[in-house]
Amino acid sequence: MHIVSRVARKAAALSALVAGIALLPAAAQSTFDVTVQAAACASCHGTDGRSPGSIPSIAGRPEAVLLGQLKAFKSDSPPANTTIMNRLVKGFSDEELTALAQHFSNIPAQAPSAQEGQKK
Ligand code: HEC
Repeated sequence: MHIVSRVARKAAALSALVAGIALLPAAAQSTFDVTVQAAACASCHGTDGRSPGSIPSIAGRPEAVLLGQLKAFKSDSPPANTTIMNRLVKGFSDEELTALAQHFSNIPAQAPSAQEGQKK
C-alpha cells in the first residue's frame, strides 16, 4: 500500500515536470532577435543587405515585396532560376521571414556615406 502511493506520487511529479518542459520552448519561440537571423544573410547579400556584388541587394525594398519573394522561395514551386534561396529559407519559420522582410525594408537602400561618395 505504502509503495503504491509512492509510485503514484512519483508519476504525478514526473508528468508535471514533462508538462513544464513542454511549455518552455513554446514560450521561447515567440520572441527572437531578428538581427541574429539577419546576420545569416550578410555573407551573401552584404552588410545590412546592401550587396557589393552580383547577388541582389535586399535593403530598402518594400516589406511586402521581400516577404513575397521569401515565401515564393519557401513554396513547393520556387522561381525557376533559384539556386540557393529555396534551400536556405526552409530553415526559417514564416514568423521569422516576416520579421526579416520588415527588418531589411527598414534599412535605407544606400548607406548615407555611400550617397555622399557618389556626389563627388
Ligand atoms: C549563400 C548565399 C545567400 C545567403 C546566405 C542568403 N541569400 Fe538571399 N539570395 C542569394 C542568391 C544567389 C539569390 C538569387 C536567387 C537564387 O539564386 O537563389 C538570392 C535572392 C534573395 C532574394 C530575392 C532578391 C531578388 O531581387 O530576386 C531575397 C529577398 C533574399 N535573397 C533574401 C535573403 C535573406 C532574408 C537571407 C537571410 C535569411 C538571405 N537571402 C540569405 C544568396 C543568398
